Amino acid sequence: MKVYNYKNLLECHKNVIYPIYEEDIICENVKNVLGDCDDFIKKSLNEITIIYTFKKYNFETITFIGLGSKKTITTEKLRKAFLNVSKKIKKESVFLANTAITDKIDIHKITELFIESYVYASYKERIIGHDEQEFIDVDIIAFEDVSEDIKIGYSYGSGINYARKLADTPANLMTPYIMVEEAIALAKQYNMEYTILDKNSLEEMGAGGILSVNQGSHIPAYMIILKYTNSDTPYNAIVGKGLTFDSGGYNLKSNCYGMKYDMCGGANVLAIMKILASTKAKVNVYGIIPTTENLISSKAYRPQDVITTLSKKTVEIVSTDAEGRLILCDALTYAQSLGADSIIDMATLTGACVNALGNVYTGVFSNNDEYYYKFMDAMMKSDEKGWRLPLDDEYFKMLESKSADFKNSAGKPGGGASQAACFLKQFINEETKWIHLDIAGTANNDIGATGAMIRSVVNMLKG
Ligand code: BES
Ligand code: ZN
Ligand code: ZN
Repeated sequence: MKVYNYKNLLECHKNVIYPIYEEDIICENVKNVLGDCDDFIKKSLNEITIIYTFKKYNFETITFIGLGSKKTITTEKLRKAFLNVSKKIKKESVFLANTAITDKIDIHKITELFIESYVYASYKERIIGHDEQEFIDVDIIAFEDVSEDIKIGYSYGSGINYARKLADTPANLMTPYIMVEEAIALAKQYNMEYTILDKNSLEEMGAGGILSVNQGSHIPAYMIILKYTNSDTPYNAIVGKGLTFDSGGYNLKSNCYGMKYDMCGGANVLAIMKILASTKAKVNVYGIIPTTENLISSKAYRPQDVITTLSKKTVEIVSTDAEGRLILCDALTYAQSLGADSIIDMATLTGACVNALGNVYTGVFSNNDEYYYKFMDAMMKSDEKGWRLPLDDEYFKMLESKSADFKNSAGKPGGGASQAACFLKQFINEETKWIHLDIAGTANNDIGATGAMIRSVVNMLKG
């Protein structure tokens, strides 16, 4: 991807993508080529008009993408419009960035948004073993230097696609061990430090949460730790649920379809580390992924087992299907033992969150208002939707147990997303700033994995 500055569009050999607002008329440059065609170009938001030049010029088509009114345009609307037009790009093209500028949205933002959307749109859920589809190059025409913005847009888009690819890969081909291999490859590519805690190390440490969930699987569990260092400030931690397949265990799910996506939190962590490293962000971050499957065998954990987590807190298992919180609690304890003073965790944690918010909003929980408001800003800046849900003690009371410090599930419905979040909160020290993102509804949709919340977390960490 390059930046071009054509004085005359006739010099251009590639197809042209032309964003246009209702208030604007087509620029002279293009008018000289096409004639007076303002009347039949649709300029309302998301309307596309493709004009074929029939080899009269060096380029075959000009594709206009309507942006509606300049007064009502937002970065969110631009993302959708750019995504829409990107899906139509079949040949090498150039994007006219200048015509999309407004008083509030400058050329740098336009370039970043277009490139990110274009790269995102280029992703296809691929059949394993089939060749990767060719990536069609798109250049930018801008009257300023936007090469840095191209790099940023590209690293966001390709980072998010990396998470989508890991998550879309079926569970037989994305095992805990393969997650480990992916993490090591990523660490090596960007010169990050890494530690892989294998089953023996987890046993020595007493990480009974993750080990209990792992009992039913013949593939051992791992805790993956990546360390990105590029600042003098304290370390943040991001923690992601890396459950490569959730059958529910003895509380067997009636339908496990979709449960390959139970490692989306972990995939997000790898993608965030990749984006931070590829943009050389000035932060210190630990990326932590507890990874295992949740299956059934004669060795699997059972309802009413009492287990001891890494924190030494004991848990009565009410449901073997409430496994996410059990692998996460050990990861949260471990993150704090490394010295992280703020933690963001991401997990496809509860069906209750899907019931409450559908696939529109991510459930957001926090123990610190200031930290939450900062995250809200990051979500707004990223055009991602999250809705704060409560963490009141009443939800934790539902987890009272006679045989252990608390239960892993109330065993009855009502406030399930908050119950799960309150369970996690038991493992967070008071002084640790913490955000828990329940991405059960947003991590994937009918089309596949989305990479939801990657942008927000990156922007939060970048500050
Ligand atoms: N991975 C699921 C949550 C989930 C459900 C994600 C639907 C995506 C779509 C999680 O491990 C789970 O099974 N949670 C249980 C908890 C319950 C037993 C307390 C749930 O939500 O039903
Ligand atoms: Zn489950
Ligand atoms: Zn799960």
